[in-house]
Amino acid sequence: MSDPSSRRAVRAEFERAAESFAERTSGRFDGLGAVAFSRIHPGATVLEVGAGTGNFLALFEGVASRRLAVDLTPGMLQVARRRHPGLELVAADGAQLPFNEKSIDLACSAQALHHISRPVPVLMEMRRVLTPGGRVLVVDQVAPERLEEARARNELDTIRDPTHAASRPPSAMRTVLQAAGLTIVDERIVESEGRLSQWMWAGEFPAERLAAVRRFIEERGAETGMGFQPDGEDWRFRRSRMMILAIRT
Ligand SMILES: C[S@@+](CC[C@H](N)C(=O)[O-])C[C@H]1O[C@@H](n2cnc3c(N)ncnc32)[C@H](O)[C@@H]1O
Repeated sequence: MSDPSSRRAVRAEFERAAESFAERTSGRFDGLGAVAFSRIHPGATVLEVGAGTGNFLALFEGVASRRLAVDLTPGMLQVARRRHPGLELVAADGAQLPFNEKSIDLACSAQALHHISRPVPVLMEMRRVLTPGGRVLVVDQVAPERLEEARARNELDTIRDPTHAASRPPSAMRTVLQAAGLTIVDERIVESEGRLSQWMWAGEFPAERLAAVRRFIEERGAETGMGFQPDGEDWRFRRSRMMILAIRT
């Protein structure tokens, strides 16, 4: 299980942000092709760890027979219930899933692993509950491979959200999956353009955090490898997400 103080911090951050988070991030996975990438079969049972307000599981509507949304933060799940009534909501820690072995065909985690400082126990739990032939699908933001850039990027992520654990480079993502007893069968990096005005809504984030992020980008944005470019009052940057599909080793 993750430690109690980080669980409290994550809950406090996402309880505060739940309503606005849902609106700001709605549809953010729509162009990813994640359902086809997952090779899911119709009628499958799909679980997501860190499901939040349901953005990712919404993609599996009409394909999966059951969609189980696991999250530490009750406020996020309450918003998910309203926006996506077909989800089954489970308030739990991903490191201790309240499901039996062989009960889940596809165990996912989308944009949540970077909030988890010890991802291996969570991935091991996702592996434990898989049916024979079941798969794990991880989607997360990735940092550059260059250590200096990854370090600067993580500094920026932590100013934006103090509960941030680690944006990992692709090589580290592969390593944590392998350490959890998983064999990668496919992977893809998807690049898109981000904007500071979209990454941090003024109403959602405290003003002093937004100001500190702006200062960091102005002074050290070039160190992050995120390709920050000024655009009037806004900043554009390169966003990299990795999708990894894995089976039990
Ligand atoms: C950035 S949100 C992502 C939500 C959703 N997957 C999406 O992409 O829209 C991260 C979510 O992970 C949850 N979370 C963080 N650590 C967790 C853990 N150990 N177990 C379950 N949920 C966790 C947080 O409560 C939060 O709702």
